[in-house]
Amino acid sequence: MEIIRTIKGTNDLLPGESFRWQFAEALIRSQSSRFGFREIRTPIFESTALFSRGIGELTDIVSKEMYTFPDRGGNSLTLRPEMTASVMRSFIQHRLDQDGGVQKLFYIGPMFRAENVQKGRLRQFHQWGVECVSAEGPAADAEVIALMIRTLAAFGLTNLTLRINSVGDEQCRPVYREALRTFFTPVKDQLCPTCQGRLENNPMRILDCKSQVCQTLAKGAPSILDYLNEDCRTHFETLQSLLNALNIAYVIDDRLVRGLDYYTKTAFEVTSNDLGSQNAVGGGGRYDLLVSQLGGKPTPSVGFAIGLERLFIILEELKLNPGWVAPVPDLYIALLDREARMAAASVIDTLRTEGLSVEYDLMNRSLKAQLREADRLGSRFVVVIGSQELSSGQFRLKNMQTGTEQVLPVQEWVQAIRREK
Ligand code: HAM
Repeated sequence: MEIIRTIKGTNDLLPGESFRWQFAEALIRSQSSRFGFREIRTPIFESTALFSRGIGELTDIVSKEMYTFPDRGGNSLTLRPEMTASVMRSFIQHRLDQDGGVQKLFYIGPMFRAENVQKGRLRQFHQWGVECVSAEGPAADAEVIALMIRTLAAFGLTNLTLRINSVGDEQCRPVYREALRTFFTPVKDQLCPTCQGRLENNPMRILDCKSQVCQTLAKGAPSILDYLNEDCRTHFETLQSLLNALNIAYVIDDRLVRGLDYYTKTAFEVTSNDLGSQNAVGGGGRYDLLVSQLGGKPTPSVGFAIGLERLFIILEELKLNPGWVAPVPDLYIALLDREARMAAASVIDTLRTEGLSVEYDLMNRSLKAQLREADRLGSRFVVVIGSQELSSGQFRLKNMQTGTEQVLPVQEWVQAIRREK
C-alpha cells in the first residue's frame, strides 16, 4: 500500500530535533518577558474577512496565498497566514483596551501560506511575533526593534542588516502614490504584467518587484522620504535617534515596501547576510489604522514577526549552538529478571517523582541489550538490579561519563546523581 506523506511545504518536527525548538521557544519567551511582552494565543483559523480586510485584498497573501475553505455551514474560513490581524481581532473582541495603557503581546505558532515552496519558504511555517498595541510614539518602534535585534543576538546571530523606512500615512501616502504613477506611466508597457496592474492599485509595490526590468525602471523613481509630512518625518527621525542611542545599526532603505497593506509610518526588515534568496529573517512595522479598519477604535500599534524555520536555517549553516543540549536520561535501570522488574517499578516511580529522568526496558530484553540501549540513550548513570542487589539492598551505581562506580542503597541515588550534575 502506498504510504501517506506530509503535504508539500509542511514538515514534521521529529523527536531528534524537538529539543532545539523547545530551547528556541524558551529563549524567545524569556526575551519577550524581559521586555514586558505577554503571550496571546488565537485560533489557527478565522473568518476569511478578517485577513482580506486586515492585510489587504490586493496583497499577494490575500489574492493568491491563503488557504481558504467553506465550513459545513457555508462560512468562508481561512488558515491564518499571519497573526497581526488575529491579535487585533482579539484585542477588539475582548476589549483589551479597557486594561488601559500599552498592551505588549507576543505569540509563537504556525502560519499558512500557499507559496511556491523552496528553501526557507514553506506552506506551514512558524513565527515568533510581537505586537505593541496602543503606543503611538517612536519609542515603541525602537522597543520592538530592540527586542528583535537583542533576541537574534542571544541566538548568536549578529551578521544581520536592519533596513528601516517610513511608508507615510493616509495623508502623505496618496500624494506619493500619485508621484509614482506619474513617474511610471510613461514606461508602463515595459513593466512586468503584475506591476502594470499595480500601477493603478498599489504603485508602491512596484518598488518591491523582483523582476530585473522593474527594478531597473524603479531606479530613478521618487523617494517616499521626500513626501513624508511633518508628523511622519519627525516620527522617523526620532526613531533613528533612538536606534542610535541603543547602538543598533540600521540602513535607511526608501525602497522598502512590505507585502502587507496595513503599514503606516515605520516599516522594517531584518535580513541575514548568511542566508541565500529567502534572506528576510523577520519584518514588521507600524499599523496605526488596522484596528479601526477592523471596526475598533483608532489604536496606533507596532510589531514584527520572525520566521523560526529561517532562524534555524542560519543557525544550522553557521553551525551555531545557542546553548541547547540534547536531553539524556539521568539513570538507566537494567533489570535482570522478573523479580527485579516487579521490585523496580515503585523505585522508578519514586525517583521520577523526585525529579530524575529514569529509563528502563519495556521489551524484556537481555542485560546486554539493555546496556546497549542505555549507551544509545546516553544515560548519565546506569544501575543493574538483580536478586543479589535486592537482597543486600546495595546497588552499583555507575557514572557512564567517568566510569566510576559507587555502591549505595536506593535512598542515596538521587543525591549521588544530583551531586555529579
Ligand atoms: P511577514 O514579513 O509576512 O510579516 O512575515 C514575517 C516573517 O515570517 C518573514 O520575514 C519570514 O521570516 C517568515 N515567513 C513569511 N512567509 C514565510 C514562508 N512562506 N515560509 C517561511 N517563513 C516565512 C508578517 O507576517 C507580519 N504579521 C509581521 C508583523 C507583525 N508586522 C507587524 N506586526
